[in-house]
Amino acid sequence: WSMEDMTFILFGATGDLAQRKLFPALYNLYLDGKLPDTVSIIGLGRKYASDEAFQSKVEKALCAYSRRSVDPSNLQEFLAKFRYFTFDATIEESYVNLLKLVEAREKELGIPENRLFYLSVAPSLVDIITSNLHASGLDKNKGWKRLVIEKPFGRDVETARQLNDKLLETFHDNEIYRIDHYLGKPMVQSLNTLILANPVLDSLLDQKLISNVQITASEIVGVETRADYYDKAGAIRDMVQNHLLQLVMMTALYLPENLTDNKIQTKKTEILASLRTIRKEEAHQHVVRGQYEAGEIHDAPVTGYKEEPGVEASSKNDTYFAARLAIDHPSWEGIPFYIRTGKRMNKKSTQIVVEFKHKMVDSDRLKGTSPNLLVLEISPNESISLRVNLKEASGNQFKPVWIDFSTSSENQPEAYELLLFDAILGDSTFFAHWREVELSWEWIEPLLNAYEEDLLPLHGYRAGSTGPEAAEELLQQKQHKWW
Ligand code: BG6
Repeated sequence: WSMEDMTFILFGATGDLAQRKLFPALYNLYLDGKLPDTVSIIGLGRKYASDEAFQSKVEKALCAYSRRSVDPSNLQEFLAKFRYFTFDATIEESYVNLLKLVEAREKELGIPENRLFYLSVAPSLVDIITSNLHASGLDKNKGWKRLVIEKPFGRDVETARQLNDKLLETFHDNEIYRIDHYLGKPMVQSLNTLILANPVLDSLLDQKLISNVQITASEIVGVETRADYYDKAGAIRDMVQNHLLQLVMMTALYLPENLTDNKIQTKKTEILASLRTIRKEEAHQHVVRGQYEAGEIHDAPVTGYKEEPGVEASSKNDTYFAARLAIDHPSWEGIPFYIRTGKRMNKKSTQIVVEFKHKMVDSDRLKGTSPNLLVLEISPNESISLRVNLKEASGNQFKPVWIDFSTSSENQPEAYELLLFDAILGDSTFFAHWREVELSWEWIEPLLNAYEEDLLPLHGYRAGSTGPEAAEELLQQKQHKWW
């Protein structure tokens, strides 16, 4: 991959994502020398603002959200890359004027016509933006062009396909970068090489040894101020269709050979295609959905989901989802994958736990032993730990102890830095490819139908807990438990 001078055109430059993630990511890339020598960044927003006002907004965002503090000695050089353009996505003329600005900057800076369009906008605008990019000729540049698009990528199979077809009218498939920020988390990106670098880990990931795999993404936050979106999406669309299924693929990806980027993609698709369908009639046997009720978090009372501002009092939206998956792939035959995610749970944690088969020897000599576990903590901290049984110095009992290989998460690059850098380079390995998106919606669809037809009970759980009881029972059916 090579880094070439380019224009970064940001739709939604006054939005939350831009302030919290994108500007800080660009700044940290700049500090690391990971931006092209010359880059023209054009932020688009509806409200009028001058370039100076925009640049000071960017500066504010850096002060508030950058992982490294702002360095006054280079700040001006960084901010000088930014221009603002007042833009109404629904008006064709806006695009013609945008093209003029883009070209003028390309000429002024002497850079090639390489254009990256970043859509951080409401889904309802994507259609009109891509059509107009095409109509205005913004996409008829001599250099490369790329489209980076934020989720949600559709609401079901059909809308996802429509959206994809729409994008394909203006961009080739290999020019489309669908962001799933879980794929930008450093631990997720290094899983494969980590296993390759450690033959010990490699040999542990053996079908004969593994009992089950558990993937958890729990959050403390509730719906926050996003009820408008979230009450129509629920955990299943917000977290499962994208982030959790991506983690399933990345975990199951394991192959005892050095995977080229191309192979990662093929293997991921292969895994997802082997994910056994859960039909809507049988969903209740494999899936648990829940909604948080009033409770306590860190000793402070919090309200239930239905009492949150903007949420319908009769809402049946899920804020929790757990499921048992079967992967009909030779490497994972007979090994259940459990996934769960929830808001307003007892802690913020994203982790993958591999539970190994345990010898249930009914012997006094092995009293107190429990299954070995391999835990890959993805966030907020990064660590790998292995749980083994150790005999207590006094007495005959075993107790589990952890061998812990934590890395310091301090000053780790953020997901958006890694992903933006890849998009700038043109490396799409850690983006969601169309077939993955399509297959994941296909897998989700019967569950959405089960929701709609009320075939799945909605379990309440106390805010600050580990989720509904029913999720514990789901694992007990196979003598497992959540770790
Ligand atoms: C987002 C979801 O994609 O991921 C949010 O829309 C969720 O609802 C967030 O809170 C979780 O991301 P992270 O990186 O904090 O685990």
